[in-house]
Amino acid sequence: MCNTDANPILIDFKENSMRPVELRSDTMTRPTPAMRKAMAEAEVGDDVFGEDPTVNRLEAMAAERMGKAAALFVPSGTMANLVSQMVHCGRGDEMILGSLAHSFYYEQGGSAAVACIHPRTVPNQPDGKLPLDELEAAIRDDNIHFPRTRLIALENTHNLCGGAPLDPAYLSAVGDIARRHRIKLHIDGARLFNAAAAFGVEARQLAAEADSISFCLSKGLAAPVGSVVCGSAEFIHTARRARKVLGGGMRQAGVLAAAGIVALNEMVDRLVEDHANAHRLAVGLAGIPGLQLDPERYVTNIVYFDVIKPGLNAADLVAALQKEGVRMLASGAHTLRAVSHYEVTAADIDCALNAMAKIMK
Ligand SMILES: Cc1ncc(COP(=O)(O)O)c(C=O)c1O
Repeated sequence: MCNTDANPILIDFKENSMRPVELRSDTMTRPTPAMRKAMAEAEVGDDVFGEDPTVNRLEAMAAERMGKAAALFVPSGTMANLVSQMVHCGRGDEMILGSLAHSFYYEQGGSAAVACIHPRTVPNQPDGKLPLDELEAAIRDDNIHFPRTRLIALENTHNLCGGAPLDPAYLSAVGDIARRHRIKLHIDGARLFNAAAAFGVEARQLAAEADSISFCLSKGLAAPVGSVVCGSAEFIHTARRARKVLGGGMRQAGVLAAAGIVALNEMVDRLVEDHANAHRLAVGLAGIPGLQLDPERYVTNIVYFDVIKPGLNAADLVAALQKEGVRMLASGAHTLRAVSHYEVTAADIDCALNAMAKIMK
């Protein structure tokens, strides 16, 4: 068993003793003691009536941090994306997004199934970008045979592209294309604060070109539930209607928003630690025979690597790691994913590397 030191943030939790090194996802983060206290003490009201002061405070904080006029608290990143798509596109309209976008890959095709939006993919490059020429070429002319292109959707950081962050210059080039063609730009910023930390910029710099941007409170920021969508007052007014029809109107949601406020106040600045830990892991894994990755590719908190030892696949390796108290995810037949977050310390990373080296011998 990989018995690691107590994590100081979790020191009050009984779960802390003999905990596994949890690297499957940053969604595994449990709310901090400060969040639990804020949740217990939250002032609440009925948010569908707009009367929950804690939700209103979270939304105001989120809008300010993204440099937008307004914001909407939603239960999940999936709903944040769907609500945004529904505001920007009508039935039969087209949305251009990356072939590896979370929205395309992992959200049950909700844009088509629920909102009747036609998704058109452009191949994601390994750095999470859509080539600008291919992106622009995918925008349709006004022709009776075609759906109307209404939206470009980007993902920052890009989950399936190894947490790759999209830089301000690229975002500005995409914003330019969208403006020239009079279409909207949505950014799925589930891990936007990781991207901001990677470039050492404010999140609002990465949001500047977006007509709408969402970010998750429940991943690296460790809140138990929730995402926020930000945009103009008009956009948010319509997004609030879309959230309601999807069943996402919550009542005394201030109990959840209170944790989100702690997340924004206390958990953003420490994301650089997660990036350092992910890099430490990537470098260590690259030194273990039988594993393959380019550690320099990983600059935020997500690492993917391949197992290339004959006779060993990702599922076998995950099972062997689990026995050593280390949890990773098999994301392909020979590919594993490891994600750092605030419950994982540098000592945990070393522990995971020792376990991996032992198994791969
Ligand atoms: C990039 C990205 N967008 C959206 C989501 C969806 O978030 P949720 O699981 O809260 O619906 C995820 C979840 O992992 C994600 O990685």
